[in-house]
Amino acid sequence: MKIKTFLASSLACAALGLVTPASADGVQLKTSDLPGYEKAQTNCTACHSAEYMQYQPPTAPRPYWDAMVKRMKAVFKAPLDDADIPAIVDYLARTYGNEQPK
Ligand code: HEC
Repeated sequence: MKIKTFLASSLACAALGLVTPASADGVQLKTSDLPGYEKAQTNCTACHSAEYMQYQPPTAPRPYWDAMVKRMKAVFKAPLDDADIPAIVDYLARTYGNEQPK
């Protein structure tokens, strides 16, 4: 029964093209000295690559990223520790959002 459930969910993921590990399409998170970088690597590339972050609007403000991270947790059950969320949001806003260094 457990194996069946596992297979069903991997198939669902594969159908969405989400089972591929982060490296599969070569899109890695942009490196950073921010503490959220490592946390994002651990928490944000298990289901999809960093391509998804790359395609977000560079004008996206911090609350957009905050909502995004929380949505990943609430909707897709990303195994995120609430304590890590602010650091990850900080990294995303400053690396992919409107707080990027000009
Ligand atoms: C448990 C699996 C899972 C984890 C872990 C996960 N995501 Fe996602 N993410 C998804 C799925 C599924 C989609 C596609 C859903 C859709 O098309 O709306 C997605 C889509 C996205 C998108 C595309 C925009 C959008 O609204 O669909 C972004 C950006 C994103 N994720 C960022 C993140 C970040 C940042 C993290 C880490 C905090 C993260 N994801 C962790 C499952 C996950």
